[in-house]
Amino acid sequence: MKIIMLGAPGAGKGTQAKMIAEKYGIPHISTGDIFRANIKNGTELGKEAKTYMDKGLLVPDELTVKLLLDRVAQEDCKNGYVLDGFPRTIPQAEVLDKALNELGDKIDYAVNVDVPDENIVNRMSGRRACLACGATYHLVHIPPKKEGICDNCGQPLVLRDDDKPETVKNRLKVYHEQTQPLIDFYTQKGVLKTVDGTQDMQDVFAAIVALLS
Ligand code: AP5
Ligand code: MG
Repeated sequence: MKIIMLGAPGAGKGTQAKMIAEKYGIPHISTGDIFRANIKNGTELGKEAKTYMDKGLLVPDELTVKLLLDRVAQEDCKNGYVLDGFPRTIPQAEVLDKALNELGDKIDYAVNVDVPDENIVNRMSGRRACLACGATYHLVHIPPKKEGICDNCGQPLVLRDDDKPETVKNRLKVYHEQTQPLIDFYTQKGVLKTVDGTQDMQDVFAAIVALLS
């Protein structure tokens, strides 16, 4: 099963993608997590990506597309995957579509996690992320067992550089301009499924599972 997660920054794409990946035994692929891992490791890709991410802008398609196509060509992706944060522009979606087409394949579902802008800034300021393993927490909704420490790997949790309110507003603007058009793109392909992302995260997950079966 090949699934794409759509939704505004902070809608809960990553939270839901991890649960989907676990339930269906497929890899969770987040381009944002891949960029953050590169930033943490000080790679050239990370240095370049950071200049865009810190401003709330998209990393250019040239850097993003190849990275993603290489990742989905790996052995663990042969039974499917859940993409979180890719595609984010119409050109990215077209490249993915073409690459899958050449393999006689296609995206099965594009899951749109719908959350109004008003809810987003609030969520982001409470988010804490583990840059080592990609786990995500929320100070109020999903606190870690030990304050400031990742339950999975014991590394310190951080407020992402791009989760400051000013940057979040910019990310929302970029989302509406460049990513939201994908909702029409996948509606036309007949694979779009929308869930109400303002519900409790377990209820969001139950709604997604119902749509996928
Ligand atoms: P990326 O890491 O993909 O960030 P994003 O899309 O802005 O999304 P987030 O990760 O911020 O939010 P999310 O929807 O995953 O929400 P989460 O589950 O964490 O990308 C970062 C940057 O990388 C981009 O700005 C761009 O620069 C670059 N980039 C990445 N991919 C790219 C691409 N393809 N092309 C170009 N550039 C790219 O949830 C948010 C918070 O809410 C958490 O604290 C969570 O615990 C909490 N929460 C989740 N669900 C609920 C719920 N139901 N109720 C209450 N709280 C909840
Ligand atoms: Mg995410």
